[in-house]
Amino acid sequence: MSTTILLDCDPGIDDALAIAFAVGHRSIELAGITTVAGNVGVDKTTVNALAVSEFTGAKAVPVIRGCAAPLLGATRDARDVHGDSGLGGAVLPPPAREAEPGHAVDYLIQTIGAAPGEITLVATGPLTNVALAVRREPRLAGWVRDFVIMGGSTGRGNVTPAAEFNIWADPEAASIVFGAGWTVRMIGLDVTLQALATPSVRSRMRECGALGSELLLPALSQYRDSAASDPAVHDVCAVASVAEPSVFGYAPALVEVETAGRLTSGMTVTSFGSGSPNASVATSIDSGAFWDIALSTYRELAAAMG
Ligand code: RIB
Ligand code: CA
Repeated sequence: MSTTILLDCDPGIDDALAIAFAVGHRSIELAGITTVAGNVGVDKTTVNALAVSEFTGAKAVPVIRGCAAPLLGATRDARDVHGDSGLGGAVLPPPAREAEPGHAVDYLIQTIGAAPGEITLVATGPLTNVALAVRREPRLAGWVRDFVIMGGSTGRGNVTPAAEFNIWADPEAASIVFGAGWTVRMIGLDVTLQALATPSVRSRMRECGALGSELLLPALSQYRDSAASDPAVHDVCAVASVAEPSVFGYAPALVEVETAGRLTSGMTVTSFGSGSPNASVATSIDSGAFWDIALSTYRELAAAMG
């Protein structure tokens, strides 16, 4: 039994590894990728999504370009973490195809609306596309099978003491998304910083053929996430939560996004035990099981890539 997902992302090193996980995991069908400005500009996130999906053998998966800037305020990026290309030290063959015509916001509405209850939406970048989609079509919140984000933190941030990058980069979008009436499954720093690509993990990636030598290892080799001693594959955790839900523990909470704080903009203010929860917040991860699953998924994908 597989779960059909749409992945809205900003590749981005860990987004790229999340795409590879989604392509490789036997219980996930990656139906489409939408891109958004985030780690790097949307032209680069789109080219990276095309290149990674082709490199991993998923050239039939449509890629649709999305928003180039946050709803309000200046565009913020994370080139200091992901490098100018957005893929760290990985240099993949340039994609042979283009992004599909149209805009990601319309694609999300049309694709999810055509199959109500069947598609899980996973967002691993700033929530600009998702916010505009759910504002344009509020029924989207009831059409999704599930909605998962990599974003937020119930504690410290990674861009400021208060904010995680995806929320910080477009706090107004995140506020709209958490207020849209669905239950947001929030895979935040609380768990993603417990699943680091340690030297031991990275040595196991050498068993993943060209996937390891051309993408996983060179990408991670230049990942500069200041919040962690080793690279954190944040976005892989979000996709893995769809494929392997038992790896994570959750608690219901009301999550509200700070948008006005001079020092706290982008903070996900989390109230566990609230009488009106809008989120299922990941509070624990079995990091050993996570890496066993991720590495076996990458090994299987590498074998399929030939
Ligand atoms: O804070 C980590 C998140 O921000 C990840 O999704 C990473 O790719 C960046 O987008
Ligand atoms: Ca991302």
